[in-house]
Amino acid sequence: MSFGLHRTWKQELIKKIKIKEQDIILDLATGSGDLLQLIKEKSNCICVAYDSNMKMMMQAKKKLKKQKIFYINGMAENIPFKTNTFDFITLSFGLRNFTNVQKSLVEIKRVLKKRGKFYCLEFSEINNRSLRKIFDLYSKLIPLYGKLILNNEEAYSYLIESIKEFPNQIQLTKKLLKAGFNKIEVFDVLDGIASIHVSEI
Ligand SMILES: C[S@@+](CC[C@H](N)C(=O)[O-])C[C@H]1O[C@@H](n2cnc3c(N)ncnc32)[C@H](O)[C@@H]1O
Repeated sequence: MSFGLHRTWKQELIKKIKIKEQDIILDLATGSGDLLQLIKEKSNCICVAYDSNMKMMMQAKKKLKKQKIFYINGMAENIPFKTNTFDFITLSFGLRNFTNVQKSLVEIKRVLKKRGKFYCLEFSEINNRSLRKIFDLYSKLIPLYGKLILNNEEAYSYLIESIKEFPNQIQLTKKLLKAGFNKIEVFDVLDGIASIHVSEI
């Protein structure tokens, strides 16, 4: 759907992190491990992959078999780690899928160290109105593409619906503030088609 651009956006997120070897990083909703791959290319820090879907994480494990990564299966709404554990938490294209976004954000804040940072990449709201209309038209074609080419209309309809319903840049900032984060920076990607929220306690 992003014509492969999601890879560049993930690189943009990782470029923003100043990682040291002794840092402990949690990659939430790790999926097939794209962010972890980029993190490991940058630093041999301690990485924890976390996802509610074991099958997705197995793909990451296969892809990153040479890397030392701890794999934990669980929900973002209930992270099984002590308070103040991680230097950085990364999350790409996962928050939109969480059952309880606000509860997950509170959990993320809890397990993050006091000077730690949370980096979140997610679809957002395009700023330019004409571009937004073009994207709306394009997004109407996605379920059709899912139906005709991939025989899975439902999954692609869900994708578009979840993007439409997800909070925009400002609304997500408010949720992060409500969860207890104090300093939040927002970086738009492609005029807001996605955005990176960098949050500190
Ligand atoms: C679209 S994938 C993104 C994967 C990866 N971060 C990426 O950018 O390629 C979303 C991931 O979120 C995971 N997920 C959905 N709900 C979750 C939850 N409540 N807690 C933890 N992981 C969840 C899914 O299993 C899936 O692997």
